[in-house]
Amino acid sequence: MLVAGRAGGSGGAPELASLVILSQDVHKVFGGVVPELASRAHLQALPAVVDRTLAEAGLPWSAVDAVAVTAGPGLVGALLVGVVYAKALAYAGGRALIGVNHLEGHIFAPALDDPELAPPFVALIASGGHTMLLDVPAWGSYRFLGATRDDAAGEAFDKVATLLQLGYPGGPAIERLAREGDPERFTFPRPLKDAGLDFSFSGLKTAVLHAVRASTDLERDRPHLARGFQDAALDVLVLKLERALRATGRPVAVLCGGVACSKALAALAAVRLKGLARVAVASPRLNADNAAMIARAGWFHLQQGERSDWTLDARADLPIPGLEPTPPHPYVPTSPL
Ligand code: KG4
Ligand code: ZN
Repeated sequence: MLVAGRAGGSGGAPELASLVILSQDVHKVFGGVVPELASRAHLQALPAVVDRTLAEAGLPWSAVDAVAVTAGPGLVGALLVGVVYAKALAYAGGRALIGVNHLEGHIFAPALDDPELAPPFVALIASGGHTMLLDVPAWGSYRFLGATRDDAAGEAFDKVATLLQLGYPGGPAIERLAREGDPERFTFPRPLKDAGLDFSFSGLKTAVLHAVRASTDLERDRPHLARGFQDAALDVLVLKLERALRATGRPVAVLCGGVACSKALAALAAVRLKGLARVAVASPRLNADNAAMIARAGWFHLQQGERSDWTLDARADLPIPGLEPTPPHPYVPTSPL
């Protein structure tokens, strides 16, 4: 996956020229991401994806200034394939190389749709691997506000989808099913509702597990279970976001990461944050993992005069640049699912 961007006019906002997103079918078969398969799929696809992206953008290789690549966090095998490929491309072509943090990429995604978007804002990053609230006083500057103590929000959607015998990824399937669900039938807990800016989704998932086991007619209850779970998960996401906005006084809330594909999340945030903050959210193709957001964040760092050198390495736990380390959490349960 790669994006070819053009600097608009006299150094203005970058323009998205093309975006090729790989099919997730390889993961659907196994109901999740199998690291070995993900790495192999990357290796097989990369050269063709790069060629197709440039062709769709109508740009020759000579128009490329730099190669931005995700250096972490994530599955180290797939990251390594990308980093090694990007290094080879940049080195052989005499271009700049820039390693980008995956989560920082998510934060930049809404700026691709809305070039006027600018900090200060609060960002809610909710994906399959992370759930985090950051204060963003300026592009590239981050202050930690809170994070999940156990499962990520997207992970909870995926696990509940498995319980309800829906496919992978679970988020879109749950959102579809929840539309037919009665919000009154199942009320699930809102974990850590009254406690600060951290999240917890493990207990909520277990509560759904118990309700599934107790159901005498799962076929009948499935939409209602999906609705009850989704309402609880989105409620805590927006509740904590609202608390973070009040604590920081920021006028804008950025929703990003795969869970921000949820129309229900964006709608709930718009209603609950009305009069408090403007809600900025990218289109779904830019919230799901994609190369455009990585290129956009890379472009920012290039503008700052930063470059990665040839020692750039993939790191499964790469911290967001400049972010103070996340404080250790006292409670890390082992997941029953
Ligand atoms: O950012 P992303 O594409 O990949 C990671 O970095 O993890 O996020 C993927 C996550 C998955 O867990 C998926 O179930 C969730 O985003 N997701 C959603 C929706 N669409 C995708 N969660 C809730 N509602 C959705 N509509
Ligand atoms: Zn992601």
